Amino acid sequence: MKILVLGGAGYIGSHTVYELIDAGEEVVIIDNLETGHIEAVHPKAKFYKGDLRDKDFVDSVKKKKKDIDAVIHFAGLKAVGESVYKPLEYYHNNITGTLILCDVMRNHGVKNIIFSSSATVYGDPAFIPITEECPKGQITNPYGQTKGMLEQILTDFHVADPEWNVVLLRYFNPIGAHESGLIGEDPKGIPNNLVPYIAQVAVGKLEKLGVFGDDYDTPDGTGVRDYIHVVDLAKGHVKALKKFEEKPEVRIYNLGTGIGYSVLDVLHAYEEACGKTLPYEIKPRRAGDIATCYCDATKAKEELGWAAEKGIKEMCADSWKWQSMNPDGYRTED
Ligand code: NAD
Ligand code: UFG
Repeated sequence: MKILVLGGAGYIGSHTVYELIDAGEEVVIIDNLETGHIEAVHPKAKFYKGDLRDKDFVDSVKKKKKDIDAVIHFAGLKAVGESVYKPLEYYHNNITGTLILCDVMRNHGVKNIIFSSSATVYGDPAFIPITEECPKGQITNPYGQTKGMLEQILTDFHVADPEWNVVLLRYFNPIGAHESGLIGEDPKGIPNNLVPYIAQVAVGKLEKLGVFGDDYDTPDGTGVRDYIHVVDLAKGHVKALKKFEEKPEVRIYNLGTGIGYSVLDVLHAYEEACGKTLPYEIKPRRAGDIATCYCDATKAKEELGWAAEKGIKEMCADSWKWQSMNPDGYRTED
């Protein structure tokens, strides 16, 4: 298949492109490199630098690459906290960008799309472990709103034109890096997410981890999440492509391991991986955080034939390999 990957220079997109190419697929990437990195782009992928909101540009790529079978759409802004202060930028980038993408797809008769959604759509989940039947919850930030809205928009497209084949993948907490250590997660500025923060403490760039709350109703009082190795997550996309050979539908899958680890569990697993004791201090809860979030991934196993294979040990070991081989991320100098 020939796949157009939006956001293929980003963290999850770059790992997915590696898995797609390993599986023999042909890949065309569009990315504006706002948060992505050119060094993360697989050398065998055809790369076009540009913005999804530029319809003429997206259309020109599609005209050059006539035989695209399917689209995997990772391109979006994703910093929860930043989205609260920049709602216009988040709605414009994530919603307008996707509408333009879908318009171009429709005009060229491409109706197969995999969309990067998130566990954030469950809000504070009605039950644990979270199945796809769990109702969507109250979302407290513009970033999360864009995920909920885009799920609805893509569902509406299928209602209007049942030839649209839509796969909504709800990711839990992707961490880790490619086992080669050549690509990984390289957030700009101080990391917002747990594992990139721990990685920078481990490599000596940050002093200590702040643990956001130790008074949650969890075994050790710190927040519990379903961490998934990014390569396992990437493989889930390769499996999801098979759904485009079946009757067009809107299909929703949780991609997680089904296991919850606390902040301190992850910190200690990382200490094992890097062989150092990592300092931390307990801080107040972070606004908008929930106590516990992990999934039931049975549906993905039954319908996609996919299950996460790597455990927390490999997730931390591969994150550490990436971070220790590339202490400054993709930036070789500056
Ligand atoms: P990322 O920021 O590393 O990747 C996003 C990529 O999209 C970047 O390369 C960026 O340059 C590109 N991009 C953004 N807006 C664009 C635009 N308008 N035009 C062209 N390119 C654009 O993020 P990621 O962690 O790889 O996340 C990928 C997707 O998965 C996002 O949609 C994100 O919301 C979703 N997601 C991520 C997580 C997570 O924890 N990382 C969890 C759930 C869902
Ligand atoms: N945490 C800390 N200290 C930090 C960072 C995080 O204690 O410096 C804690 C959080 O309080 C939480 C856990 O670590 O308990 C995980 O936090 P992350 O920020 O790594 O991840 P979240 O679960 O908050 O959110 C992530 C993405 C969202 C996505 C969600 C579900 O940022 O975009 O996973 O996929 F929606």
